[in-house]
Amino acid sequence: PVPPAFKVPLPIPQVARTVRRDDTTDYYEVVQKVARVEILPGSRTTIWGYDGTFPGPTFRARAGRKVVVTVRNELPVPTSTHLHGGVTPPDSDGFPTDLVVPAGYPVHTRHAGMAMKPSDYTIHDRTRDYVYPMTQRAATLWYHDHRMDFSAPQVWRGLAGAFLVGDNDEDRLGLPTGDKDIPLLICDRSFDAHGEFRYPELDSTLTNPGVTDDYMSGVFGDVILVNGAPWPVLDVANTRYRFRLINGSNARRYQLTGLPLTQIGSDGGLLAAPVRLDAVTLAPGERYDVVVDFSGYPVGTELTWTNALGDGRTRDVLRFRVARAERDASSPVPATLGSVPVLRREDAVATRQFDFRLQGGRWTINGQPYDPSGSLAAPKLDTVELWRFTSDFHHPVHVHLAQFQVLSRTGRKPEESDGGWKDTVDIRPYGVVEVLVRFAGYKGRYMLHCHNLEHEDMAMMANFDVV
Ligand code: C2O
Ligand code: CU
Repeated sequence: PVPPAFKVPLPIPQVARTVRRDDTTDYYEVVQKVARVEILPGSRTTIWGYDGTFPGPTFRARAGRKVVVTVRNELPVPTSTHLHGGVTPPDSDGFPTDLVVPAGYPVHTRHAGMAMKPSDYTIHDRTRDYVYPMTQRAATLWYHDHRMDFSAPQVWRGLAGAFLVGDNDEDRLGLPTGDKDIPLLICDRSFDAHGEFRYPELDSTLTNPGVTDDYMSGVFGDVILVNGAPWPVLDVANTRYRFRLINGSNARRYQLTGLPLTQIGSDGGLLAAPVRLDAVTLAPGERYDVVVDFSGYPVGTELTWTNALGDGRTRDVLRFRVARAERDASSPVPATLGSVPVLRREDAVATRQFDFRLQGGRWTINGQPYDPSGSLAAPKLDTVELWRFTSDFHHPVHVHLAQFQVLSRTGRKPEESDGGWKDTVDIRPYGVVEVLVRFAGYKGRYMLHCHNLEHEDMAMMANFDVV
């Protein structure tokens, strides 16, 4: 049932609407539910979606205005919603064992072969509020499911969306806005002959975790979706556009080539200065905020973003068709963007090493699979530490709460696209990546983990405590 590439128009996810606003806070309500939607033309796919859509609605928050999202879970299984890149107090961070549970669901007490006690879980009955203070700068965040042992299949079924934070500093730059500021959530999926998602879970009710043994390196799909549409096409004006690239894939990395672009931001918001790139590589969980200028192309030109790391049909990603001439309302990208204080090696008050490795047939951090009641580090609030990530394979390492700057890659300077504040960094096979992490915001228990979602579910996670 797989369609030809570049026929389906790019969908733009609806923007989440507040149900209420007061002086300080924007309130939202989201229902997680099963829906049947058209992804492959002419057939229906069962999804699990925020508000029944895939991707979920795009949140547009404002720095300084608190956001409260009431999530109601009408799915047959527990969920946990994590705002990836959010500076969020621990009780709203979407901890894997902090669950919104459907009525009558038995508390699940096994995890990747380890015994879990019911007391390891926090249970909310069907609904809860997530509180996001939004004391952070403008940035491209995203939200997705984080249920212990089941993040991979639950995100695969559709539980992911964009969450954009804006602020006054960013508004002053004259960047493209409105219909010229577009989130692009990229992910791969496989479909069965009926057009339903295909995923190699051992238990399709998602009561017992695990995928079959041949998926140790993660689950890859053969259809590339952008905003939930297969290899879509977008008609653009011959002006500048801002694209918020989000790699929402379980395991697939993309090196997008075919279109010169200007990177203006990374995971944690605007860079200090724009960077011109011919290609951008995104590991799962990473975001790149880019401006593409279509003004040099005559109407009728077609430009295609190809994935240089794909093969066959997974090389195709997204096509742009310059469809009309229009006066550009945005300004050229300024030479200075955000203020990004540069952290130095001397700023670190401690050095720690986290080794991501297959050991004894399982994915581990420092030799251990996830222990929900353990903790590998206790950094102090408002300090900077040097964290050294080592690995045996591709592991996109994500740290909750804290943002970091890449200091070095295997003894060399960081790469051009490693700049700015980040929360996810791609560790390459046998690579060593040093980052300077700033612990700001809140004390409490957070986690770091591999964002290959199958690795995450196979317990490649660890807690740390900000003290
Ligand atoms: Cu995007 Cu802990 O995850
Ligand atoms: Cu991994």
